[in-house]
Amino acid sequence: MFQTLPGFREFYPEDCAIRNYIFGVWRETALRFAFQEFDGPLLEPLELITAKSGDEIVSQLFNFEDKGGRAVTLRPELTPTLARLVGAKAGSIKRPVKWFGIAENFRYEKPQKGRLRSHYQLNADILGESSPAADAEAIALLISTLCAFGLSEKEFVLRLSDRDLWLLLLEQHGLTGDVATGALNVIDKMERESPESLLKMMQGKGVPAAEAVLADAQKLVACTSLEAVEAFFADRGGDVKSGDRVSARLDQWRELLAHLDAMGFAGFIRVDLGIVRGLAYYTGFVFEAFQTVGKGRALAGGGRYDHLVEKLGGQPMPAVGFGMGDVTLRDLLEDRKLLPDPKPELDGYVVVGSGEAERRAALRDVAALRKQGFKIDHPLKQQGFGKQFKTAGASGARFALIYGEEEVAQHKLKLRNLASGEEGLVDFPEMVKQMGA
Ligand code: HAM
Repeated sequence: MFQTLPGFREFYPEDCAIRNYIFGVWRETALRFAFQEFDGPLLEPLELITAKSGDEIVSQLFNFEDKGGRAVTLRPELTPTLARLVGAKAGSIKRPVKWFGIAENFRYEKPQKGRLRSHYQLNADILGESSPAADAEAIALLISTLCAFGLSEKEFVLRLSDRDLWLLLLEQHGLTGDVATGALNVIDKMERESPESLLKMMQGKGVPAAEAVLADAQKLVACTSLEAVEAFFADRGGDVKSGDRVSARLDQWRELLAHLDAMGFAGFIRVDLGIVRGLAYYTGFVFEAFQTVGKGRALAGGGRYDHLVEKLGGQPMPAVGFGMGDVTLRDLLEDRKLLPDPKPELDGYVVVGSGEAERRAALRDVAALRKQGFKIDHPLKQQGFGKQFKTAGASGARFALIYGEEEVAQHKLKLRNLASGEEGLVDFPEMVKQMGA
């Protein structure tokens, strides 16, 4: 037998039903926030991804040369595609652009629980608006989407951070450009690595006085409120110009938090500068939703990326958005018993006698009911009544439609409500009436 490739999933009907449910909630919530759906190609030029996404994702690409000698890759994420699509129409498009997409992404990483080589993501992004109101709208959609599955503050939090504040701190240490980006990559690993290896990594990135930088970084990560962040920067002192930029940035923080508070989401938000995000294109606020039960895995992540559209060839266009994966989400919903019953929703199952007249009458009604939008199933081979009733019961159908010799002779059928057991002799219009109720 052939095996599925490592890190790839097959979707049997019951899995497909769950996937459709997840996609349905994603789509419905995004539409409620007035986002419009878009899509792009699964296969992209390698350069689109290598241009700006950062080393980690690039080392995980499913890339190859196509028969025309082009360097191509299966998309590991949807954001570069989105930036290209919007960039190409940047001159004429109505702003703000609020778009969402549901995309399969491919990453060649070590398969493990919660991380696979193919996963689906809801992506929702707002382009053309630089104010914190756009960040708030993206975060509000993220939280509302998780809540629409029945999840609550008991099950997840949104950790909110800021690459701008990090860059301001690094600048105060004299770090800018590539060295600052290198230092940020190390800070991103602070939760997972030992102090010794962090120091080595910092030194490897050419960061001078790495110990002092790391000590400050530890202090900033330890701040759990905006007031604590404010106090941290106030204590450090520094020159007036840098202080002004810090306080201007803190004003934006206040605006963002006030916005989220007004929408009733304050309880989900944790100020947590420990989030830096691995992707290189992020510029300002960054955030990740983590489950607070079980293994504490990431459910979604995103942030601002104000330069990506321009760098991929378009005009300047500020942007913010997030991606929410289906793998950890499904595991969590399963664990919390929040997935709907996978049984197919069937309106009627046909039980039919062996005579030609019964079969014809049943088939005629099956076709007519389906045309009217009812979900109807019927046996594809002749079987005894007992077996057919059993199948009808197990099918999850609301009604059994019974075509016996006597009923058909009267141009009627027997309609049985499978939940209550009530039944009666009805004609076609009466059946439609009862089933529609
Ligand atoms: P990301 O953090 O790489 O961001 O992925 C977002 C979410 O997708 C993660 O929190 C996780 O739930 C899921 N995910 C990522 N990789 C895997 C994997 N290998 N297996 C299962 N699930 C996975 C992005 O992709 C950004 N493009 C999101 C974004 C949109 N930022 C701005 N706009």
